Amino acid sequence: MIPLFKVAMSEKASALVGEVLDSGYIGQGTKVDELEHALAKRLDNPRILTVSSATAGLHLALHLIATEHGRDGEVLATPLTCTATNWPILANGMKIRWVDTDPETLNIDLDDLARKITPTTRAIVLVHWGGYPVDLDRLTHILDEAERLHGNRPQVIEDCADAFGATYKNAPLGNHGNIAVYSFQAVKHLTTGDGGLLVLPNDHLLERARLLRWYGIDRNSGPNPYQNDITEYGFKANMNDINAAIGLANLDIIDTNLAKHRENAAYYDTELANTPDLELTERAPDRNPSFMYYTLKVKNRTAFTQHLKSNGIATSEVHKRNDHYTTTHPYSTHLPSLDTLTHQHISIPVGWWLTPTDLTHISRTIKKGW
Ligand SMILES: Cc1ncc(COP(=O)(O)O)c(C=O)c1O
Repeated sequence: MIPLFKVAMSEKASALVGEVLDSGYIGQGTKVDELEHALAKRLDNPRILTVSSATAGLHLALHLIATEHGRDGEVLATPLTCTATNWPILANGMKIRWVDTDPETLNIDLDDLARKITPTTRAIVLVHWGGYPVDLDRLTHILDEAERLHGNRPQVIEDCADAFGATYKNAPLGNHGNIAVYSFQAVKHLTTGDGGLLVLPNDHLLERARLLRWYGIDRNSGPNPYQNDITEYGFKANMNDINAAIGLANLDIIDTNLAKHRENAAYYDTELANTPDLELTERAPDRNPSFMYYTLKVKNRTAFTQHLKSNGIATSEVHKRNDHYTTTHPYSTHLPSLDTLTHQHISIPVGWWLTPTDLTHISRTIKKGW
């Protein structure tokens, strides 16, 4: 079976991890510092902090917002994503108001978002679906307008879990004035085993997040940081040197792999255009997606997935809508675009592991019909 996801591990990883294991120090140390230095350079942004997972980063981000702006009001959120995007809203005692999904991108529908912002909107949580960037300039205009109308500017959290390497107007995600959270989980473009990256939009939030990712204690405050007062309790959300060593090794392979994802996506864009009963998603010239997976909209999805499965090709919806669970029942609302899309979208393999034969096989299998 051609898999939808695969772990990308550099040949150097075991030696580098071995070095850490043999060093006698496996907590947060020099390897984490090295990884942060490398990632700050890559993202062209010094306001970054590694974390133990994107989930932990999202919890921390929502905690920062809840404690700065209050838990009342609501958070506008996208339902078509991993539960990790939205559960931190609930865990922080905040209310969700769902925003519909843009059928062209599977990202948050910015028209619906603009309609739903009110004076009580505390935050907006969005995801870059499969690594396809949301139109961030349009989002900024919507926020400008909201600020003009209501006098408040909701804080945006961008879930960039699938978007490592993606750019919007040539800038890596995380450079557009919002909080951004990347994932380095097992099958992401850059894996540290488990891990993530929090990107903060200003020094104040960076400093708070730096303290709160480790109990509220300043690890850099000298030989015995426990002696100091703690002004605000925090969490244990920091990365350790074992995970950082994996990440450092994998920085060697990330660009080659990303290029393959993009090449393969471009191949499908050409080969699958104009296929009956199938629609491709948007490609805007100002965005360079990371293509964690390649999403199509198809008629008769069950037959499509069965057809690909019987030809040895894995497919998945990847994420199930979050608004139809018992736990989110109180926030249920009518989302007409998602109601349609939810029966159509399906993702196919696009990653670095595909051979030219795999690519031809996948596109021919799809073009044969289902
Ligand atoms: C969109 C999205 N957000 C968040 C997460 C959570 O990432 P992590 O496993 O690093 O906590 C994932 C995990 O796959 C994801 O796909």
